[in-house]
Formats: sequence, structure tokens, C-alpha cells
Amino acid sequence: MHVNGKVALVTGGAQGIGRAFVQALLGKGAKVRPGKFPSPLPAAGTRGRRVAAAPGARLGGRPVRLSVRPPASRSFSSRPAQVALLDRNSEAGRDSKAALDEQFEAQRTLFIQCDVTDQEQLKGAFKKVTEHFGRLDIVVNNAGVNNEKDWESTIQINLTSVIRGTYLGLEYMKKGNGGDGGVIINISSLAGLMPAAFQPVYCATKHGVIGFTRSIALAANMENYGVRLNTICPGFVNTPILQSIDKEENMGQYYSYKDEIKNMMQFYGVMDPSIIAEGLITIIEDDTLNGEVMKITASQGIHFHQYGQTPFTSSKR
Ligand SMILES: NC(=O)c1ccc[n+]([C@@H]2O[C@H](COP(=O)([O-])OP(=O)(O)OC[C@H]3O[C@@H](n4cnc5c(N)ncnc54)[C@H](O)[C@@H]3O)[C@@H](O)[C@H]2O)c1
Repeated sequence: MHVNGKVALVTGGAQGIGRAFVQALLGKGAKVRPGKFPSPLPAAGTRGRRVAAAPGARLGGRPVRLSVRPPASRSFSSRPAQVALLDRNSEAGRDSKAALDEQFEAQRTLFIQCDVTDQEQLKGAFKKVTEHFGRLDIVVNNAGVNNEKDWESTIQINLTSVIRGTYLGLEYMKKGNGGDGGVIINISSLAGLMPAAFQPVYCATKHGVIGFTRSIALAANMENYGVRLNTICPGFVNTPILQSIDKEENMGQYYSYKDEIKNMMQFYGVMDPSIIAEGLITIIEDDTLNGEVMKITASQGIHFHQYGQTPFTSSKR
């Protein structure tokens, strides 16, 4: 699926990885405002290195073009994407929207304050996005927390809301439901694939996201939903969530192990959020990917988890 002309909804889009997703979606094939340059995604083979976009610079092998306004009549596919940021943090959401408006046309983004654990707020936000932009093509269930003390809310945010966001995405995008098809990307973690001694509930929610997404992807294939569903599992990424490791209010009974987690970070490395956004764009653009679990690590970059044969993989098609 081309990102151009599409409408995306990103939960937890105000900061961190979600913010990088929004930036990447807006920057993909976008015209930028005069004197402003999109924050580029690393081109192939440049992972982890900064690629400066300056006048005359090339982005992803193509020259960066500056234009004041889009041409009056643009075909659907040549229009850049529009993105809704959902987040419970209104201050960060508004700040992000203001910063994005400096780079991209303001009407291309919409910030909606929304607590993903509030059913009515989440439903209302999906409705508002489709009414505002006229369609919905990409849903990224990204909002997440690391809180072992208030572990019930961790389950609500990291798993229950991802499930609800997926079902809402299907409701709007599923072909049998009048939708045009689309892509849903649910954000898990490497902790979804291995034990995490000092974050057992976080680990359980991220395992849950993978199991749910792989299962619903099978159903989507068998029932011809026209919607692809995939998971991204990043290693450590440099975002504000890492600060939660230093807080007793987040770590609870595991607080005394904070240095062990920091040692792990040092050992495995901490990535820039733009690398995770590169993975997101890969999943959106590659129509062959469904039910896949993308791993992104500092040592191996973007790669896929290999599973054995899954039952019921053949579709009715
Ligand atoms: N940073 C990492 O090392 C890392 C590694 C693997 C996976 N992840 C996952 O990536 C996702 C994004 O994390 P991040 O690192 O950007 O964290 P972050 O804390 O920087 O950003 C998370 C965003 O989600 C929002 N959010 C939290 N609870 C919410 C709720 N109930 N309703 C609406 N918004 C809510 C926050 O306000 C924030 O803007 C999470 O699912 C996280 O588990 C992060």
C-alpha cells in the first residue's frame, strides 16, 4: 500500500515512537513547507546514521523537492498522507501538532485527546478521524506504558486497548463492512517474545499483543477482510518510557532491579525512534506482509521472527 493519499490513526502519537511514526507518515512523499525540511528516515543501509536533508539533498534516493503549495488538482495517490494523533497527554499532543505544523501543512494532522482505555473516547476518536478526513486506511495501536505497580492498568492500556483499537480499525476498514481495506500495526516489544524478569506484566501484555495480532491476521486472510495485521517488536528505544525504570511508582516491587535493566540497555544498545518508523513504513508498503512479527534491534536492525507452520494458514480464496 502506498502511504500517499492515505489516512492514518496513531495512538500514543504525541511523543516517543508514536511521534516518530506520525513524522514518518507525514514525511513520506510529502511536500514540505518553504524553508522547512522533513526529518528524514534513514535510507536503506544508513540505519542508525543521520541523513541530513538540505536543499539539493536526496532522500531515499530521490531529490528532496520543496514546494509552497500542492498543485490544485492532485490525484488521490499523489496526495500526501493525513495523520490523526491520539494521546491522553493533551499538552504533549498539542506541542507535537504545533511542531509538525511548522514542517507540514496544518490540515494534514489532527490531534485528539483520548485515553485509549476509555471505550467511548476511543470509539469517538475513530469516528471523528473518519468524519474529519473522510476515510481510514492505517491504524497503529502504539500507546503503551511500563507500570508493574499498577499492573491492571498496564493490561488495560497495552493489551485490552490494542484489541479494541484493532476491532475498531476492522470495523471501519474491513471490505465486507463497506471499507476499502487497510493495514493495522500493533506495537509489541522484544519482551513479547522472551521473558522479562523485572517486567512480568509488561511482558505478558506484549506476548498477548503478538498472539492476538497473529490470530486475527489469520482470520483476516481466511475471511478476505482486505486488512493486513502485523506486529512490531522493538528492542530498547530512546523515548520517555525508559525513564519509568527509575521510578518506584512504575517498577513497584521490581524497583531495586532498575540497574539490571539499565545494564541490559547498555549491553543491547538503545535505538533512535526513527528506525522503528522505518519498520512501520516497510510493513505498510509491503502488501505481502500479514501476521508477521517484525523485530527491530540495535544489532540486527529490521528483521522478522521465524515461526514454524501455523495451522489454518490457507485462505478460502
Ligand atoms: N521505548 C522502548 O524502549 C520500547 C521498546 C519496545 C516497545 N515499546 C513500545 O512502544 C510503544 C510506544 O512507547 P514509547 O517508547 O514511545 O513510550 P512513550 O512513553 O514515550 O510514549 C507513549 C505514548 O503513549 C501515550 N499513552 C500512554 N497511555 C495512554 C492511554 N491510556 N491513552 C492514550 N495514550 C496513552 C503517552 O501519553 C505517550 O505519548 C509502547 O507500546 C511501548 O510498550 C517501547
